[in-house]
Amino acid sequence: MSNDVVIEAWNTVLFEKFSRFKFLFVEGYASISQAVFHRQPFPDGSSVLDVGCGFGDCTIAIARSIGDAGVASGVDCASNFIGECRKSAAEEQVDNAQFFVADVEREDLGGPYDYAFARFGTMFFNLPGLAMKNIRSSLKPGGSFTQVVWRKREDNPWLHDAEKCVREIVPVVSHDETNEVHCGPGPFSMAGADLVSDMLQSVGFQNVQFERFDSDICIGRSLGEAIEFALELGPAGEIIRLAGETGQKLRGEVSVALRDVVSRYAREDGSVWAPSSAWFVTAHNPE
Ligand SMILES: C[S@@+](CC[C@H](N)C(=O)[O-])C[C@H]1O[C@@H](n2cnc3c(N)ncnc32)[C@H](O)[C@@H]1O
Repeated sequence: MSNDVVIEAWNTVLFEKFSRFKFLFVEGYASISQAVFHRQPFPDGSSVLDVGCGFGDCTIAIARSIGDAGVASGVDCASNFIGECRKSAAEEQVDNAQFFVADVEREDLGGPYDYAFARFGTMFFNLPGLAMKNIRSSLKPGGSFTQVVWRKREDNPWLHDAEKCVREIVPVVSHDETNEVHCGPGPFSMAGADLVSDMLQSVGFQNVQFERFDSDICIGRSLGEAIEFALELGPAGEIIRLAGETGQKLRGEVSVALRDVVSRYAREDGSVWAPSSAWFVTAHNPE
């Protein structure tokens, strides 16, 4: 199966949308990755691969934490994201963060690394087993891979309730019925602990551990931004985009309906914070 469609999506329409809402990804998700780094600090001098690194903020945070003797390497299939990562590392003068473009499912990831990490970077793989195998091959014996993935949709109402709301208004066009590029499987593809642990073990990882991590995350600095975010991104935004002209015509109606969904999470200062739930999944490469 070719990944061209997914890679094009991440390099074009999704890159543009993520850039528009960059603040929410970089600031909003920081507390989640910080919780992982706090639990499992990477030792000074280690080499760490950041899988599906997006804007590279985690790669840069890791690079800072491992000292000058360590190297953090961010990989992403979208060259536009990697361009942003390189700019940020240069601006922030972080010399031990490096970045490269590769499809994690099938291309050489370099290494061998002491550790691999991914914050929401593994849920969009068409062939996740192949990607996990490739990640393990890039690790040293005894190395480990920690990934953050969303748990089930019902515990992530900021995505799930918005999707349900949009589905009531906009006809759903499946990936097979459209020529539009798309993001791949989607944010809940790794939510099932049994499926994920079986997949990791089937490619040779051992001692797979899950920790549930619940937290409120900022989905908009204002109600308007939270509505725009739901209209553009996540499963709700993808339904609207893939519905083409029909989706665009129904945007006004959807926007009104989404106001009810997101306003229940509005705080007194106007910002919008919704409950979220993720897994921290750690798997070990045998010695
Ligand atoms: C939801 S974003 C997460 C980005 C970042 N880790 C974060 O937490 O903000 C998923 C990232 O995975 C990348 N990605 C998707 N499929 C990939 C693949 N096959 N190989 C490498 N990167 C991939 C996308 O380009 C995108 O940057």
